[in-house]
Amino acid sequence: METITGLKRTHKCGTLREEHVGSEVTVMGWTQVYRNLGGVIFVDLRDRSGIVQVVFNVDRDKEMFEKADTIRSEYVLAVVGEVVMRDPETVNDKVPTGTIEIRAKELRILSKAETPPIYIEENSNVREEVRLKYRYLDLRRPDMQRLMELRHKVCKLARDYFDGEGFLEIETPMLTKSTPEGARDYLVPSRVHPGHFYALPQSPQLYKQLLMLSGMDRYMQIVKCFRDEDLRADRQPEFTQIDLEMSFVNIEDVLSVNEGFMKKIFKEILGIDIQTPFRRMTYQEAMDRFGSDKPDTRFGLELVDLSDVVANCGFKVFADVVAKGGSVRAINCKGGDAKLSRRDLDALVDFVKIYKAKGMAWINVGETELKSPITKFLSQEEIDGILQKMGAEVGDIIMFVADRNEIVYDSLGALRLELARRFDLLKKDEYDLLWVTDFPLFEYSEEDKRYVAKHHPFTMPVEEDIPLLSEHPEQVHAKAYDMIFNGNEVGGGSLRIFNTELQQKMFEALGFTKEKAWEQFGYLMNAFRYGTPPHGGMAYGLDRLVMLLAGRDSIRDVIAFPKVKDASELMTEAPTNVDPKQLKELHLKLDDLI
Ligand code: AMO
Ligand code: AMP
Repeated sequence: METITGLKRTHKCGTLREEHVGSEVTVMGWTQVYRNLGGVIFVDLRDRSGIVQVVFNVDRDKEMFEKADTIRSEYVLAVVGEVVMRDPETVNDKVPTGTIEIRAKELRILSKAETPPIYIEENSNVREEVRLKYRYLDLRRPDMQRLMELRHKVCKLARDYFDGEGFLEIETPMLTKSTPEGARDYLVPSRVHPGHFYALPQSPQLYKQLLMLSGMDRYMQIVKCFRDEDLRADRQPEFTQIDLEMSFVNIEDVLSVNEGFMKKIFKEILGIDIQTPFRRMTYQEAMDRFGSDKPDTRFGLELVDLSDVVANCGFKVFADVVAKGGSVRAINCKGGDAKLSRRDLDALVDFVKIYKAKGMAWINVGETELKSPITKFLSQEEIDGILQKMGAEVGDIIMFVADRNEIVYDSLGALRLELARRFDLLKKDEYDLLWVTDFPLFEYSEEDKRYVAKHHPFTMPVEEDIPLLSEHPEQVHAKAYDMIFNGNEVGGGSLRIFNTELQQKMFEALGFTKEKAWEQFGYLMNAFRYGTPPHGGMAYGLDRLVMLLAGRDSIRDVIAFPKVKDASELMTEAPTNVDPKQLKELHLKLDDLI
């Protein structure tokens, strides 16, 4: 084994240029490519900065040449040598170091390597499971290194920007009391308090509010959050927030400081000047036009409400739905006739069923006639009304869903995105940023058969709506806002309740008994009694933000060691069994059924 004793790295591989010709350099890195062309060996040496070519010549140093001949892929080397110009015929204009090379004077083999199970190269198309099992190798790949650099840069910009705006970075505990944020908690058993558990934070929500009470004025933290929920491409059980809270603010103050942040991020990361203030859209408008509270407004295919046109029509499904207070809405799939076969349409019917729609009626607007399973039930007047309202032209296909509003929004919202994917309307280099505002304070949970907080239980209701809290919770609006970036919720927040009575009322509306509310949140409601500044804030999903800036489809790509769908980590194989002794110490017994 050789070491680097006595050597000092002078340059990073990828930084060497013609200006270094004539100087002696020491570089260290991994062997990307090794070629023996008879009397000459070329080694491409790689570190995070890039690649440089090293040359060993048998005539110059036979012993070193023979040693170089033992080098294989991914061997870790230290090389001392002179930077020289390459022969014109060996110039490689694909790499920034392509006009020079290092003529080796000393070679040390610091670490040998077995053949790696994945290729260490840009855009390697190895299966993700293999990449994650050998993540330390996967992270050697240049594109992964760029992504980690990008993530670092976003964090640094966040710290610099919010520091400039007077925010203090303050850490909050990871071993905490459970705070409901809508997901299941990860629990940590206490050894010292048998039968008691900490919860890992779903977010630092209450700590950051209490910091406002403490007079910290403005808080920020780049912080891990933990939620035991079903995973998707944009969801991890542990993820990172850029978390913010501000005192003495109204909504405008929070939105504008965050628009400033995004402006800086776009400028510094993508070199793009974005317009501020961002567009705003109410929750209701977002649902009505896009079927989603995170609308992607880069393309049309908007929803249109046809309930009034078909309220009394002969197609029973439509008329019944309207009579029951649901709605009939449709999307005009422009030019759909040329792009979608009858088979595709059938597949789209199955697609909307995933979202609980019972079917998807359609009208194909032909040159001379309409093709449709439902026009036979409609009067000419109703058909004309539909076509007119949908702005239908020859070649379009109108697609309908009739149901409870919630299902109509969900299924047509998803259909709209599916059509956009099929027709390639989602341009990665187009950036669409907006705020969604005026959320309802509550949503009805079918599962729990009660109202739950749409954002979280600490969100301030709109003042005029407060009297409706107990009788008509569904009509109360929240002082909450989400930041939407290309149809993804990258951040969300709200102004907060800051007095005991209102907070208590809120818990009551959520179905807490007074005792239960005090047992769980007494410390917060008590704290409000000692002088509380009005406050509000928000949190970005850092992983999502970096993913979108990088034009990626999965947050796993921007997390060094992510988890997979079943919340396990393929490299360490966590979660694992533990020693029975550990369980005993924690006073835990495993259920025999497990
Ligand atoms: P919220 O729950 O909306 O708000 O979370 C804020 C942002 O975090 C991101 N996010 C996630 N990212 C990856 N994986 C997940 N499982 C995940 N869950 C959420 C989203 C989201 O917009 N305490 C409040 C913020 C506040 O009110 O200030 C909160 O946590 O991008
Ligand atoms: P059916 O009467 O079930 O044969 O349906 C006739 C057409 O209406 C089919 O194209 C169905 O996909 C469609 N359809 C059925 N239920 C609904 C619904 N709730 N909303 C929209 N279209 C529907």
